[in-house]
Amino acid sequence: MRHPQHVAIIMDGNGRWARSRGLPRSMGHRRGVEAVREAVRAAGEFGIQYLTLFAFSSENWRRPKDEVDELLGLLKHFIRRDLADLHKEGVRVRVIGARDNLTPDIRGLLEEAENLTRDNQRQTLVIAFNYGARDEVARAVRRIAEKFAAGEVPLEALTAEYLDDHLDTAGIPDPDLIIRTSGELRLSNFLLWQAAYSEFAFLPCLWPDFDRKAFREALADYAGRDRRYGGLSREIAS
Ligand code: IPE
Ligand code: IPE
Ligand code: MG
Repeated sequence: MRHPQHVAIIMDGNGRWARSRGLPRSMGHRRGVEAVREAVRAAGEFGIQYLTLFAFSSENWRRPKDEVDELLGLLKHFIRRDLADLHKEGVRVRVIGARDNLTPDIRGLLEEAENLTRDNQRQTLVIAFNYGARDEVARAVRRIAEKFAAGEVPLEALTAEYLDDHLDTAGIPDPDLIIRTSGELRLSNFLLWQAAYSEFAFLPCLWPDFDRKAFREALADYAGRDRRYGGLSREIAS
């Protein structure tokens, strides 16, 4: 089966999962972490080189403080509890998203995760935390403008590839497949630039219910897609 090299997932529906059981939203987020563990393991078994998980968006700060605190707490808990195991499994951790408005303890944990695992080769887990695509592009453009203003780079060098190299995802291939759970049909400011030629899978299941089987089905569906990148389909071209 033709597997994607990079799968990115918008993990949505924790709140609805909890509400449908009469539970507080926080319980949905906690169960969501279990689904994260299963997804990372499954991606490793399926031989997927890059797995990106959208864990907290730059717009999620709009939620009630209790819920934001719960989500920040779960990130800390996940890194403290799972980092050693991820490292042992040969997983490299990368984090995308803004850092400047995070507290020093969270920033420290994210750096620790990246530093400890930087030489691992088996699989890369990209955590999108405090991430918004427009913010990412704006930060990249600002860095490029600084270099240009300092005379470090000529105008002709400012190509799409040059912008690529200044995004948080620099060095990571574009996602082949973007999965969103919970039935919503939108990107919610996720990887807008990198998704130019991604395939999409919008699944009805809520994130805590996303398991190996749902993952495998999404991959099977992807394997049947004809990616043309503006050219002709493989059958017509040959
Ligand atoms: C996804 O679940 C988790 C985050 C966005 C952090 P939600 O919390 O968005 O769950 P719903 O969409 O309200 O069901
Ligand atoms: C997208 O889900 C963000 C994450 C999964 C982290 P949201 O639940 O925040 O998206 P909207 O608000 O429904 O678009
Ligand atoms: Mg949601």
